[in-house]
Amino acid sequence: MCGIMGYRGQRRAAPVLLGGLRRLEYRGYDSAGLAIRNGGMHVWKQIGRVQGLVDNLPAEIQGTLGIAHTRWATHGGVTDENAHPHLGPHQRVAIVHNGIIENAGAVRRDLERSGATFTSETDSEVIAHRLEAAIDEGLEPLEAMRKALNGLRGTWGVCAAFLDHDAVVCARNGSPMAIGEAEHGVIFSSDPQPLSEHTNRVLILEDGDMAIADESGFRVERLTGGASNTTAIVMEEAWGEAELGDFPHFMIKEIHEQPEALRHCISGRIDLRSGNGRLGGLHLSPKALTEVPHVRLLGCGTAMHAALIGQQLIERLARLPAVTHVASEFRYQDPVVNPRALHFAVSQSGETMDTLAAIKEIQLKGGEVHGVVNVVGSSIARLCGQGVYIHSGPEQAVASTKAFSNMVAALTIFAVQIGRTRGLPPAEAKQVLRGLREVPDLIEAYLADQGPIMDAVEMVKDASSVLFLGRDLSASVAREGALKLMELAYVPCLAYPAGEMKHGPIALLEEGSPVIVIAPDDEVKEKVSSAIHECRARGARIVLICTKGDDIAEQGDVVIEVPRTHPYCSPLLTVLPTQLIAYHTALSLGLDVDRPRNLAKSVTVE
Ligand code: AGP
Repeated sequence: MCGIMGYRGQRRAAPVLLGGLRRLEYRGYDSAGLAIRNGGMHVWKQIGRVQGLVDNLPAEIQGTLGIAHTRWATHGGVTDENAHPHLGPHQRVAIVHNGIIENAGAVRRDLERSGATFTSETDSEVIAHRLEAAIDEGLEPLEAMRKALNGLRGTWGVCAAFLDHDAVVCARNGSPMAIGEAEHGVIFSSDPQPLSEHTNRVLILEDGDMAIADESGFRVERLTGGASNTTAIVMEEAWGEAELGDFPHFMIKEIHEQPEALRHCISGRIDLRSGNGRLGGLHLSPKALTEVPHVRLLGCGTAMHAALIGQQLIERLARLPAVTHVASEFRYQDPVVNPRALHFAVSQSGETMDTLAAIKEIQLKGGEVHGVVNVVGSSIARLCGQGVYIHSGPEQAVASTKAFSNMVAALTIFAVQIGRTRGLPPAEAKQVLRGLREVPDLIEAYLADQGPIMDAVEMVKDASSVLFLGRDLSASVAREGALKLMELAYVPCLAYPAGEMKHGPIALLEEGSPVIVIAPDDEVKEKVSSAIHECRARGARIVLICTKGDDIAEQGDVVIEVPRTHPYCSPLLTVLPTQLIAYHTALSLGLDVDRPRNLAKSVTVE
């Protein structure tokens, strides 16, 4: 979602800030802006892409201090005025803000009563007014920020520049802020990624922290006063390039990175000799695993679909009740939390607000949560303090692909690990682990020969709706496939367990209706076959995703075959054609495949 950059140093600030904004583009945004202190406080901002902003900037902007932003609209429409940065009434401060100020309406009315006028509809502009008022009282920047934020309710990652002070100040409450200490200056960002080209020494603020970079270096304090406990970390080199390389889009690049990403995820975590999984970061002894009464998994979107597959494998391999929750619903259900239960929060970005809120609900009720997270040092990873990094490498396309595979792989290893403490026979465990180890090669083989994807695209691209069906593990693949096609190609999609079709969705079917069926060669294949017959009898046309060489192929109008694998690993293969269908459908409709409309890569608002 929104992205923040700030800089104070020896270089010209504009190129540093704009370079950072480009690295934040993948998060999704609808406007961009820049403020540079250079004699006055100069602001450029407009709706559209960062490149559009760059095209309208003067050739060489001087000034070594500034802030910048990419905005994803929440309060107020997508307009130039609502884009950040926002200025104080006399242009003596500029701020950029991520998050939501919940009492902005009341604060704004108070300020208006005292004569203030606002230039935008945003909640964020009140911060600029309050900050400038505090500066006008003679407070130093950090004190002024403290005063401006006191009395505001909501969430913020906020960064400010000051006309009369050679300083950049930032603060965090529920919206991430990271600071990089480079040789040429101090860089602020809402995401550690843009810092990596300047330094690997990064400090991630905790909620309630604020920081200043000025003539004397930089320091971090608590909003409530006193020093912060945050310490700098050295960022690990992430595997995988953050650049496009030879690929036209990040999504297709990331689809093709799945074999390598999976190898990173499973490497060192499979013990084939003893037939066990080794997820050390969980900090759970075999004895502790035997005492777990049940497992709960939480996530949103694709992460939730991966959790559903993990849930089924845990039940099956460990004979232990497991359940998945939509994270955004969880805390509103006043859930009963058993402190002895095992909870997993699954998230690529590690910043999803709904998932964070669910974790806090569990922790509040005495439970512990383990993260299944991609981004190292992210809010969820830090809040959980224990868990599994899935090591997908940077995922930049809004549509999640390689993170899904690695979430499923990590949870499969966990299912084996907990299964082995509860009587899962070693031979069975070894079969699953062997299957998992072979998956990267099988994905490579499939990607080299993808089957008639474009025939499937022709069937779905102009459809008024597409029905996805699958059963057992494949029911979650069907949901994931439907989400992908919907979010990228804006085609309305429904996903149902194949057995549920006759209880309602069958009413939608008419001559030519496209149905995408996920039917690998597993125990429920025959049942799925019945659903296919029911669809065909109503004139539906079937895109069938099945195991290579399987007889079921004769039931499809378009048949996409994937290599045979262990049935428990089948989602890692059958999901691939659904990713490719979504990608190519979006392309054939001329849509922005990496940044679909209205969506953001990490959803940091409720
Ligand atoms: C995936 O294609 C989606 N864009 C979205 O559903 C995503 O999976 C969801 O927002 C959760 O994100 P997270 O994994 O970063 O928590």
